[in-house]
Amino acid sequence: MNTVAFADFRTYPLISALSGVQALADRVLATWADGRVSPFHHQWLRDNCPCPQCVYTVTREQVLEIVDVAQDLVPAETSVDSQGCLRVQWQDGHLSRFDPGWLRAHAYDDQSRAERRAGKPKSRLWKSDLSLPVFDYQALMNDNDALLQWLLAVRDIGLTQVRGVPTEPGSLKLIAERISFIRESNFGVLFNVQSKADADSNAYTAFNLPLHSDLPTRELQPGLQFLHCLVNDADGGESIFVDGFAIAEALREEDTESFKALCEIPVEFRNKDRHSDYRCLAPIIALDAMGQISEIRMANFLRGPFDASAEEMPRLYRAYRRFIAMTREAQFRVLTRLNPGEMWCFDNRRTLHARNAFDPASGARHFQGCYVDRDELLSRILVLQR
Ligand code: OGA
Ligand code: ZN
Ligand code: ZN
Repeated sequence: MNTVAFADFRTYPLISALSGVQALADRVLATWADGRVSPFHHQWLRDNCPCPQCVYTVTREQVLEIVDVAQDLVPAETSVDSQGCLRVQWQDGHLSRFDPGWLRAHAYDDQSRAERRAGKPKSRLWKSDLSLPVFDYQALMNDNDALLQWLLAVRDIGLTQVRGVPTEPGSLKLIAERISFIRESNFGVLFNVQSKADADSNAYTAFNLPLHSDLPTRELQPGLQFLHCLVNDADGGESIFVDGFAIAEALREEDTESFKALCEIPVEFRNKDRHSDYRCLAPIIALDAMGQISEIRMANFLRGPFDASAEEMPRLYRAYRRFIAMTREAQFRVLTRLNPGEMWCFDNRRTLHARNAFDPASGARHFQGCYVDRDELLSRILVLQR
């Protein structure tokens, strides 16, 4: 069957067949076998023509620019062809055919748009009673289905543990690369979390680290963080996690003014040593275009002095104190000690992590970490789902 290509490498199953098409002055109305009616404006259809003149078949990227087509172009004829495709013969002679699966997946009638919104992956918020998703290293290395399940848990829950990771230094690189490129930073491709005399971060001491995201000092905080335990013989040093989105939602409920202050008032985070000086000025809570919480930026030990107006300063302190106080509430906290061969993988822009102080005199402690951006995670998931 001569199916229509489109500007995508995915496949779009036929949800409902096209049963009819009606031409209006500026759009066509497509009727589906399940009764739904979807408008498609002439410009939209011409813009999305998937023919090889409009979309380069190798890259599946568009070569047409809609401005090169008359704004008032209208079809000479529209029909549902023998293969169930929408066929549009344009008045300037161009011919477009649209696969009905693709067309339905991109339909913009109210119901189709609401369905698409509802079908978007949603964060599953958690508190201290989280049942921690645990995955096996060998399975993740060898089996793409296991890999996909892990990545979905990272995306939707934002905290996972992997067990059975070899305790050779560098092992986490192999598993991070099952997703994609590692995001390097001034701390290295992999960073070694050990108490060091010449520490360039509080992370490389034996101090407790309060709940934080890593590299809030960068315009784009790393999306995923991996922390792999090689040796953990020291007393203390337990890992603590909270779902930053759950806390932000709880704050939105409890004290909307404070929530708004953390969304609106920028705070500077700084990361400096003898060779580098990274600074980022941004609010602690970021919202996406739909008003959903999309990011938490927080590390008290990297924060600069607040710079807000005299009027805003008390509001900012109230909000900041309340947010930190909430991260300390037992109802939000998951506390576990990581053993050698175990690894955390979490959403660094959502799940805040902390470490209790440890006693370096009582034994060695060596973790390795690295980062992978969120884009890489989401791309890998879509490719595994193809
Ligand atoms: C870090 C960090 C946690 C730990 O290095 O940023 O949070 O358990 N480490 O040492
Ligand atoms: Zn075309
Ligand atoms: Zn950290």
